[in-house]
Amino acid sequence: MQTPRSVVGQAASTVDPLGCSQFSHPWRCAITSSPLPSKASWNYADEWLDESEQIRAARDRAGELGCTPVAPSTAHALRVLAKAINAENVVEVGTGAGVSGAALLSGMSAEGVLTSIDNEAEVQRLARETLNNLGYDHIRARLITGRALDVLPRLTDGAYDLVFIDGDRTEYPAALSLAKRLLREGGLVAFDNMLADGSIGDSSSRNPEAVALRDVTHALRDDDNWVPALLTVGSGLLIAIKVAE
Ligand SMILES: C[S@@+](CC[C@H](N)C(=O)[O-])C[C@H]1O[C@@H](n2cnc3c(N)ncnc32)[C@H](O)[C@@H]1O
Repeated sequence: MQTPRSVVGQAASTVDPLGCSQFSHPWRCAITSSPLPSKASWNYADEWLDESEQIRAARDRAGELGCTPVAPSTAHALRVLAKAINAENVVEVGTGAGVSGAALLSGMSAEGVLTSIDNEAEVQRLARETLNNLGYDHIRARLITGRALDVLPRLTDGAYDLVFIDGDRTEYPAALSLAKRLLREGGLVAFDNMLADGSIGDSSSRNPEAVALRDVTHALRDDDNWVPALLTVGSGLLIAIKVAE
């Protein structure tokens, strides 16, 4: 009888879901036998789905403003996540040029409203242009200029299906606490740039961003209200669904 694959994580001495009894932990086998994707594969992941002309233009202009948009593969993942939960109300921190906002809106329900926060008015002007060109008006895309940690507490508790965080990384742990309040049960939180510079995996790194990134993963892992996963898509997308205790 075949061993179910869903038991990954149990000790190899009792089950051997991946057929690697020489390893003490079955997931080690998965790591050892699956090479990291090549650069060509990585590029393929970003390019196999086309992006619209408006999004390509927004990417170019974001580059000029020094505000890096989410990777194409991350944009596609955000659209899928929004679609999967039929998101109607979404909060975003880090409007940037509007690339991630457009992806979220494209996956949300037809009446859905994106509330997007950024402390830079100039990038939000660019986002507004991008979103207008894609047919998302002021009602579908509500842009708020301000600091995330000032604006998030003013939003309604339990009223949101998805909260996407792509702003100041040192604020991720505080943003998680606020997101937890804003989300309904079954809602999703997502953080971008978790693996961007590799510092999260360097336990000796004490720089404030590395510490904050690790803190947010630990907070999600240690709280029974979250079911989390850290996805190696784009520059690293940490997602978690809020569940009842
Ligand atoms: C990586 S860019 C966002 C890119 C955007 N999500 C996209 O895909 O187009 C980060 C943005 O966060 C904004 N930001 C940084 N710190 C912030 C804060 N404390 N509050 C609100 N926005 C912040 C920056 O102005 C910048 O536009």
